[in-house]
Amino acid sequence: MIAVVASYGWQTINNMIQREETNVPERITATDAPSEEREFEMGLRPQKLNEFIGQDDLKENLSIFIEAAKKRNEPIEHVMLYGNPGLGKTTLAHIIANEMGSQIRITSGPALERVGDLAAILSNLGRGDVLFIDEIHRMNKTIEEVLYPAMEDYALDIIVGKGPTARTLRLNLERFTLIGATTRLSLLSGPLRDRFGVTHHLNFYEEQDIEKILARSAAILKVEIDPQATNLLASRARRTPRIANRLLRRVRDFAQVRGNGRVDEKQCHAALKMLDIDQVGLDQTDRRILATIIEKFNGGPVGLSTIAAATQEEIETVEEVHEPYLIQVGFLARTPRGRVVTPHGYKHLSIDPPIQPLL
Ligand SMILES: Nc1ncnc2c1ncn2[C@@H]1O[C@H](COP(=O)(O)OP(=O)(O)O)[C@@H](O)[C@H]1O
Ligand SMILES: [Mg+2]
Repeated sequence: MIAVVASYGWQTINNMIQREETNVPERITATDAPSEEREFEMGLRPQKLNEFIGQDDLKENLSIFIEAAKKRNEPIEHVMLYGNPGLGKTTLAHIIANEMGSQIRITSGPALERVGDLAAILSNLGRGDVLFIDEIHRMNKTIEEVLYPAMEDYALDIIVGKGPTARTLRLNLERFTLIGATTRLSLLSGPLRDRFGVTHHLNFYEEQDIEKILARSAAILKVEIDPQATNLLASRARRTPRIANRLLRRVRDFAQVRGNGRVDEKQCHAALKMLDIDQVGLDQTDRRILATIIEKFNGGPVGLSTIAAATQEEIETVEEVHEPYLIQVGFLARTPRGRVVTPHGYKHLSIDPPIQPLL
């Protein structure tokens, strides 16, 4: 080190170290897709219901629902889609609009800042148009109230003037379809939930379906991939299409730089190791959450906000990304008194569970 310092100087060494730090791989579980990734995802998005892989019950229900509306020559009822990030809510909203031959307008709960924003969008919708509101649980309550008459009576109530001379004007809207997407159905108010004709839940995917999604994406991206490699990636993708596609993209880069471009099992192993993803698809953060509950809280029970504080993660990230998957693989359990690491979870980290497990 001293020799290195002598030849480079401390400033350069510091820069080198910092560069190392910013080089850490992007989190495979990140919920936000940077704009460049969004473009990548758009290219992989199925356009029609029959290209949408898995979720068979949901697909069947939706296709009946769409066919019936088409036969009646009516727009479909309002649809609520809920499920964990990356399971296909946005994709389905586009598919529904496509299948109906409708235009889709897209916005999100946090993007609607004033009542006027939503009123402007609503009054510009044509008959049969689809309005997609992503993260609808994050919509402001006063804005939400504008939606009630819009969804129910296709009307917009506008208050004109101020004080005693104020009056309400009712504007008629075209018959549109609202599609709402949320990761947190429980945060939605009752009146809003009741105004949706149907609510669909997206589950984690079967591993075979993730394999099909990987094969489809590989074909679109013109990536040659061995079946064993597809198999391996599918087992690490947290049963989530977005993560499967992210992994595919990483190993493609890896194969292009380190190999001859064809993705094989060995390269997948190397790439997964570099990303620090273990045999069941857990990343560093998942393991840190488990380890923290074990080491600092004796395996639990411990509350969500305490876990978030102790691991320096956002509560939402723990609750929407890490916890659902840890519960899914059986490493974590939710009890009325808080979260508990299961004996399986201990075993996964090679830590001996307490003699009397808390479960
Ligand atoms: N059933 C599916 N079949 C094929 N690809 C899918 C499926 N569901 C999701 N995807 C892909 O996964 C990515 C994330 O899906 P998206 O609809 O954006 O998820 P969400 O809106 O639920 O976060 C997209 O690139 C999409 O193409
Ligand atoms: Mg989405």
